[in-house]
Amino acid sequence: MMPVSTVGRMKITTIEGLAADAKKLHPVQQAWCELDVAQCGYCQSGQIMSAAALVAGNPAPTDADIDAAMDGNLCRCGTYPRIRAAVKRAAEIARTAKAPAVVAVPKG
Ligand code: FES
Repeated sequence: MMPVSTVGRMKITTIEGLAADAKKLHPVQQAWCELDVAQCGYCQSGQIMSAAALVAGNPAPTDADIDAAMDGNLCRCGTYPRIRAAVKRAAEIARTAKAPAVVAVPKG
């Protein structure tokens, strides 16, 4: 958690602003969908935003990198193995020229 007062004039990106537009997903969101990470979804906004920050600064995160970056994001449903796999997939999507950086948002 970070109080807004500590952010000052820095730019803030929320889960709603993570995708390039309403029809395209960020690589982390794409990976989350591919691996069906969410269970109840309660923790997922925080998980996704932490993963996006990690992938933005680390193109090939290790398990230790992921554990450190995701520390403090608790999931009562225990989706941690899928989260770790999805972070690695998101990094792969972000760095691989073959894979699109964004995909269409599934309907429904
Ligand atoms: S998906 Fe349920 S708390 Fe994380």
